[in-house]
Amino acid sequence: MDEKILKLLRERSPDFLSGEEMSQRLKVSRAAIWKRVRGLRSLGYEIEASTRSGYRLVRSPDLLTPAEVKPLLKTKWLGKTIHYFESLDSTNSTAYQLAMEGAREGDLVIAEGQTRGRGRLGREWFSPPFLNLYLSVILRPKIPLQQASLITLMAAVATSGAIERFSGLRPSIKWPNDILMSSRKVAGLLNEVRSETDRIHFVILGIGVNLNVDRREMPHEVQKMATSLKEEMGQTVSRKAFLQSLLSELEKGYTLFLKEGGEAILKTWRERARIEGKEVRVTSFGETLVGRAVGVDPYGALILKTRGGERKRVVAGDVQYRIKQAPNNKRQIRDKFQ
Ligand code: BTN
Repeated sequence: MDEKILKLLRERSPDFLSGEEMSQRLKVSRAAIWKRVRGLRSLGYEIEASTRSGYRLVRSPDLLTPAEVKPLLKTKWLGKTIHYFESLDSTNSTAYQLAMEGAREGDLVIAEGQTRGRGRLGREWFSPPFLNLYLSVILRPKIPLQQASLITLMAAVATSGAIERFSGLRPSIKWPNDILMSSRKVAGLLNEVRSETDRIHFVILGIGVNLNVDRREMPHEVQKMATSLKEEMGQTVSRKAFLQSLLSELEKGYTLFLKEGGEAILKTWRERARIEGKEVRVTSFGETLVGRAVGVDPYGALILKTRGGERKRVVAGDVQYRIKQAPNNKRQIRDKFQ
């Protein structure tokens, strides 16, 4: 009902729409309309009411409800069904459940906040309500299982593309899928796959983007390494406008990947990551490797030449770049990575 009322008000905006016309078109009483208008106001909608002229939508809040998001979407299939929640433990967990129950490709799970947002490698994802973006997309790609991680790389390219289009600033990607601005993390991706032997049932693509959170509001350990788009741009960001941009980039990237394969994605990923030749330290499954990054292979795995001259292929883990030290700083004898 709320969605229908808002649609009518938007169609008539900036003019008034009479209560009489609304009740006829929605086939409900005028009292029922008035009750919902009060409900919408409590959600942050500014709706002017006049006994003579009816109702007029003055301003909408920056919520991620289907009523707010759908009119903005420019996608063909992504986000046509939105499962919206004010709070969830994790959008990935809910999306996984929905996919198990048959949810379709392109269905979207969005929450205003998460109580147990999940990051990579069992970490927590800081998810304060109404400030950032937490979403999971259900995908059902018909690709071999070993290509599944290319979907995360595709999403990293799409997310950094959306940030760039939106802010005019150029984020970089840190392998495998951290999105950085000013060397701090602004967005992260968590890809979860359900498959049997070689057949993918579905992929849950979880994306978290720090949009309006202040760095000083972040927990201490997060603050050191994270930033938000607001911090970088120096102004508050419209979450729904950013979401629109992100979903368009994702749909474009995924379609390109299915049509032309991983190389099309990897080309842009490499331009954004510029990892080739960098001195890195990689922690993967409890092992720490130090060496020079050779690049990523066609499946998105990191290829590393260790200091001992060994060539290693890393499929999951954390990368730190070696910080260049001033040549005259002879006292610093240990390698520094960040
Ligand atoms: C990372 O560690 O970099 C990945 C972070 C992924 C966070 C997003 S927020 C939406 C989705 N739901 C989750 O629980 N995690 C992902």
